[in-house]
Amino acid sequence: MGVRGREVSISLDGVRDKNLMQLKKLNTALFPVRYNDKYYADALTSGEFTKLAYYSDICVGSIACRLEKKDSGAIRVYIMTLGVLAPYRGLGVGSRLLNHVLDLCVKQNIGEVYLHVQTNNEDAIKFYMKFGFEITETIHNYYTNITPPDCYVVSKFITESQTKKKLLGSSFSS
Ligand SMILES: CC(C)(COP(=O)(O)OP(=O)(O)OC[C@H]1O[C@@H](n2cnc3c(N)ncnc32)[C@H](O)[C@@H]1OP(=O)(O)O)[C@@H](O)C(=O)NCCC(=O)NCCS
Repeated sequence: MGVRGREVSISLDGVRDKNLMQLKKLNTALFPVRYNDKYYADALTSGEFTKLAYYSDICVGSIACRLEKKDSGAIRVYIMTLGVLAPYRGLGVGSRLLNHVLDLCVKQNIGEVYLHVQTNNEDAIKFYMKFGFEITETIHNYYTNITPPDCYVVSKFITESQTKKKLLGSSFSS
């Protein structure tokens, strides 16, 4: 997308104790759920997998992930939240955040990324489909305070061929 020039003013920054408040403010504005201390501890622990996005100098979005160890010992990435403030949507910020995490997965040989999305969140479902995610499960009554209470588990499996393509210089960016 960089070639289209619209991403020139988007930059990413890591999340640290010092700017954790930015992530908290974004979550309050974006999501109907209040996130607990574990969410913020997991976000900080995930290191490069959690990022704030700036449009020019304004903090407009974030991706926050948790790294999980599967029984097999393999690591998978759970996207806890990905959001962009409404006036800044459609400018490539969400894509930039998601591509950042997908690129890290390729570099670190992580084969699975997944998340939960409310079943009525069509914009987000379409967004993830564009990046090769698929609906892998429906969980009824996943949420307790929002309607509908159901969610989809949306997953992307990163294959070795994508890893190879990446090594040849291609990326997930369209
Ligand atoms: C999903 C979300 C993160 C996308 O962020 P974004 O910055 O708008 O995404 P991008 O600008 O990179 O757009 C990527 C694609 O998504 C689609 N899209 C973006 N904005 C859209 C909108 N307002 N309506 C419909 N589709 C849209 C388009 O297909 C777009 O591709 P294109 O620009 O090549 O046409 C954003 O809509 C959002 O924050 N939603 C609310 C929070 C949320 O539901 N998060 C997901 C659950 S964790």
